Amino acid sequence: MKEILVIGGTGAQGLPVVKALSSSTRFAVRVLTRDVNSSRAQQIAKLPNVTLVEGTQDNQKDLHTAFHGVYGAWVNTDGFTLGEKNELFYGCRAYEIARHEGVQHYVYASTDFALKDANWNERYHWGHNDAKGRVVDYILAQGQTGAMKSSILTTGPYMDMLMDGHFVPKEQLDGTFIWANPAKSGKLPLICLDDVGPYALWLFDNLSESAGMDLMVTTDEICFADIAAVFTKVTGKKGVHQYIPIEDWLNAAEPYPNAPANFVAGPNAHRDEASMTWRENFTAWWRYWGEGVCHKRDIQLLDRIHPTRVKSLEDWMRKYQYDGRQRNVLKGVEDLKKKAQLMMGQSAGSS
Ligand SMILES: NC(=O)c1ccc[n+]([C@@H]2O[C@H](COP(=O)([O-])OP(=O)(O)OC[C@H]3O[C@@H](n4cnc5c(N)ncnc54)[C@H](OP(=O)(O)O)[C@@H]3O)[C@@H](O)[C@H]2O)c1
Repeated sequence: MKEILVIGGTGAQGLPVVKALSSSTRFAVRVLTRDVNSSRAQQIAKLPNVTLVEGTQDNQKDLHTAFHGVYGAWVNTDGFTLGEKNELFYGCRAYEIARHEGVQHYVYASTDFALKDANWNERYHWGHNDAKGRVVDYILAQGQTGAMKSSILTTGPYMDMLMDGHFVPKEQLDGTFIWANPAKSGKLPLICLDDVGPYALWLFDNLSESAGMDLMVTTDEICFADIAAVFTKVTGKKGVHQYIPIEDWLNAAEPYPNAPANFVAGPNAHRDEASMTWRENFTAWWRYWGEGVCHKRDIQLLDRIHPTRVKSLEDWMRKYQYDGRQRNVLKGVEDLKKKAQLMMGQSAGSS
């Protein structure tokens, strides 16, 4: 069995990758995690042929250990905890270290390079996408003639974010679900997370075609007015998209005043002049996705690679019995909530 290192394997995007590789019975999986005892790490460790290695994405020694001896790698660095500068540096270093360690197939999980797509208009620059975009250009610039081949998988916003994060509607007293946000009529290339697994497996299984490829995936390219309309069709409940100015959205959603973009990393995370605030980050984020600046995906190609993919938002809502309510999807957010609960419990206990 060929072994694949999965970086970010306990996360929302990495979980389906680990599951798809493990269930293929063609690949063994090694997952890099900061905590081998976390519930998500323990859950995936029970899958066939999955092992855990403890370490962090932003430590070169840990990266050497993690890449040593594996055939392939799936690398999804976490821009939300690393911040833009560290994601760029460690994104490049991870690729270099993988080559040193003799990895043969390197798959980098990216998302759209917004600033470049917007013709370098700074109004569309935000950290956690552009760092990945730069890393993609660096990786692909190394070509495919050496011993290590590389592929990119580009996802847009997760469809699953309709259950967690900025895409969850607010239920009103009269039973209406409102998506109040600054999105205009742009079509967002939403991706069903469970389908990331089969795409990842295809990339590893088809090296001759996937080497040098940037596979840009989506489940449905859809604007917010249509998201609300599909919700009504599927659930019978009234769904409404309400455009609100960006300032109103930021005021309502900002985690705390002047929060940094990588606030989930805690108060001691590295920050300097290059760090964006949460407000700057998400202003550009909404602008880019809400105006539909991103590249359209090649649906025919996606149908060929993954014929049983979820084909529309409507299918996704039916499959996952979507009801507009919040559920845990992102590990970072889940960890934050657990920490907050623990702290509240401790302060209640001490008072
Ligand atoms: N949300 C979206 O719609 C979306 C769409 C496209 C791309 N992305 C990108 O996906 C990335 C986040 O992944 P996710 O969505 O799977 O988030 P997630 O569910 O919060 O998972 C974060 C993952 O990163 C790992 N991680 C974080 N910091 C680490 C560190 N210093 N060292 C080792 N592992 C670390 C976590 O592992 P442990 O906690 O086990 O260490 C976990 O596996 C971000 O860069 C984001 O830009 C997100």
